[in-house]
Amino acid sequence: MKLLLLLLLMERAAAQQRGLFPAILNLASNADISSNATCGDPVPEVYCKLVEHVPRRLIKNPHCSKCDANSVLPKERHPITNAIDGTNQWWQSPSIKNGQQFHWTTITVDLKQIFQVAYIIIKAANSPRPGNWILERSLDGVTFDPWQFYAISDSECLSRYNVTPRLGPPTYKRDTEVICTSFYSRLNPLEHGEIHTSLINGRPGADDLTSDLLNFTSARYIRLRLQRIRTLNADLMTLSAHDPREIDPIVTRRYYYSIKDISVGGMCICFGHAQSCPLDPVTKKLQCVCEHNTCGESCNKCCPGYHQQPWQPGTVSEGNTCEQCNCHNKAANCFYNQTVSEHFLSLNSRGVREGGGVCMDCQQDTVGINCETCATGHYRPSEVSPYSDSPCVECNCDLRGSKSSVCTRDDTQPGVSAGQCMCKQGFSGVRCDRCAFGYRDFPLCARCECNLSGSVNTDPCSPCICKENVMGAHCDLCKPGFFNLQQSHSLGCTDCFCFGVSDVCESSALSTAQVFHTDAWLRPSYSHHTHPVVHDNDLPAPNNLSGHAHQILLSWAAPASFLGNKLLSYGGFLNYSLLYDVPLDNEDHSLPARSDIIVEGNGRALRLSPPPLLFLSELAERSVATAITPQQFLDIETGAHVTPR
Ligand SMILES: *[C@@H]1O[C@H](CO)[C@@H](O)[C@H](O)[C@H]1NC(C)=O
Ligand SMILES: *[C@@H]1O[C@H](CO)[C@@H](O)[C@H](O)[C@H]1NC(C)=O
Ligand SMILES: *[C@@H]1O[C@H](CO)[C@@H](O)[C@H](O)[C@H]1NC(C)=O
Ligand SMILES: *[C@@H]1O[C@H](CO)[C@@H](O)[C@H](O)[C@H]1NC(C)=O
Ligand SMILES: *[C@@H]1O[C@H](CO)[C@@H](O)[C@H](O)[C@H]1NC(C)=O
Ligand SMILES: *[C@@H]1O[C@H](CO)[C@@H](O)[C@H](O)[C@H]1NC(C)=O
Repeated sequence: MKLLLLLLLMERAAAQQRGLFPAILNLASNADISSNATCGDPVPEVYCKLVEHVPRRLIKNPHCSKCDANSVLPKERHPITNAIDGTNQWWQSPSIKNGQQFHWTTITVDLKQIFQVAYIIIKAANSPRPGNWILERSLDGVTFDPWQFYAISDSECLSRYNVTPRLGPPTYKRDTEVICTSFYSRLNPLEHGEIHTSLINGRPGADDLTSDLLNFTSARYIRLRLQRIRTLNADLMTLSAHDPREIDPIVTRRYYYSIKDISVGGMCICFGHAQSCPLDPVTKKLQCVCEHNTCGESCNKCCPGYHQQPWQPGTVSEGNTCEQCNCHNKAANCFYNQTVSEHFLSLNSRGVREGGGVCMDCQQDTVGINCETCATGHYRPSEVSPYSDSPCVECNCDLRGSKSSVCTRDDTQPGVSAGQCMCKQGFSGVRCDRCAFGYRDFPLCARCECNLSGSVNTDPCSPCICKENVMGAHCDLCKPGFFNLQQSHSLGCTDCFCFGVSDVCESSALSTAQVFHTDAWLRPSYSHHTHPVVHDNDLPAPNNLSGHAHQILLSWAAPASFLGNKLLSYGGFLNYSLLYDVPLDNEDHSLPARSDIIVEGNGRALRLSPPPLLFLSELAERSVATAITPQQFLDIETGAHVTPR
């Protein structure tokens, strides 16, 4: 039982995916109909039935009857309403005994609203079907367009209507093709002949109604412009050759139009979004029962709030249901914006950026394409969902510390939490209602002066306690004999060292200078001392390169920019890099090397202690940095460590 129910539900869901179409109705039965000529109107007349007979043989009682529009007997009255009343009564035109003008008779049907007309079936009564005539349609009752031409012969299609005849039973090559046919104007049968005109079936767009075909078949008014009564060929000759007054009146009384029934098969225009259209008691019109979230008289637009995608008609294969906008329950309506769709700015109800729905008139202090954010001066706390009731609260910024009363609307901005006001310098807190770190006395929030580099404080606002070599009320001055206040220096400032010239110093505003010489020492093209000088142990070997058979000592002279008085390099770095390109045949292709620096001047020479051991690899540059401090160097002569002096 449960399984059965499930299957039914699935069936229903699948049905939602297809277009819905109301049943075809006979639209003529509720229509207004009129004709501009009726037999026996205004005066009674006698007509005779057309029967095959031998010419010139007079028959005593040649099937004649009377019609009278004002008769009390229904069978003598033949108003056009008989053609749509569903009875066997018929409409009849005056016979041409009353004049040739009765070949031209017009019948107009008003369906009272625009329908899509699928076919029209006309049944003759006691006469042959009309000979030449035009079936026409109109939306407004003023401008009529032809739907189909009917002619007594194929040649008359061309001569009378200037349309190439469609031979044989009617066929249609295009959705909007207007053909001319002689198929339904034949003389036989002499009575009760039928005319079947299809406007949809047989056309290319019939299976999945194209907009062209929809347009072509739309009509409120249908007009039958009858233009020639069908006659017997023998009589036709008589009629055209003779003065009508000389013709046997029996002949002219036999020629008139008669119609027993006009059926107009058609349906309400609901654009594939309704399966029924009952009569509305107020408007007296058939009204589509729109589904697929569509609205409008003919389901021709999406209902308010369902404009996430543009409206489309339902088709045989696709429902094209209108999709609800995602306004987080904060707006009743929305509209579609193509640009918004192209830029993926709108969120659909599944939370996917697809479609172009823009919510209108967002409520509860919300704004945005999906009413997803808060109006200026409001914010949505991060734990509150945009779907919840009244998600936005006022910013409540403290104006003493805020630049404005506007805060961050939501938590979509990385690093800024929702509700954060924009604080002036020295202020902090979500509402800027307290002092920032390093400032004191809200709402004054003056900067605290204690220098964190020169003090042991972690908070500049607590009582300022200076580091050992620092002084001043805000601990921002080096004591005499010290310089270079640094946060990283545990004592704050460094001892002065003035190479014996002085023991008083102060921090200098001069910044560090660097001497560069890039990428050239070893280039053969570089002139001065670029080729290594090979020594015969005239310098002490830097150290023991044990395990290698050959020890080679190479030296390079530094370029000029590194020579001369370099007192200011004290405490700085000498950086250089080494690279070799001679292939080695040892296993790991590495070359262990001691790298030394000889500093000469004032009759003394210093060397590194200890020289760094480098393992050089072929074509791999090794960088070396050496601090120019006394601890790094030995006097070559005495082997003793050097002092700053
Ligand atoms: C009927 O109306 C049509 C079109 O208005 C006109 O051409 C025709 O002469 C009229 N016929 C009669 C019999 O009045
Ligand atoms: C629809 O048909 C009318 C004629 O009835 C024509 O004037 C109009 O241009 C057509 N509209 C479209 C969109 O094809
Ligand atoms: C559609 O959206 C774009 C981008 O948001 C906007 O510039 C444009 O004005 C909107 N158009 C309409 C008709 O609202
Ligand atoms: C601390 O003092 C030094 C030296 O006067 C100064 O350069 C630095 O900007 C000061 N630091 C602070 C946080 O005031
Ligand atoms: C070099 O090192 C080897 C092995 O470590 C050692 O035997 C040798 O005495 C050292 N030579 C010098 C000059 O220090
Ligand atoms: C020299 O080396 C030191 C220590 O590695 C480094 O701090 C400094 O930035 C280097 N200088 C240059 C110019 O590369």
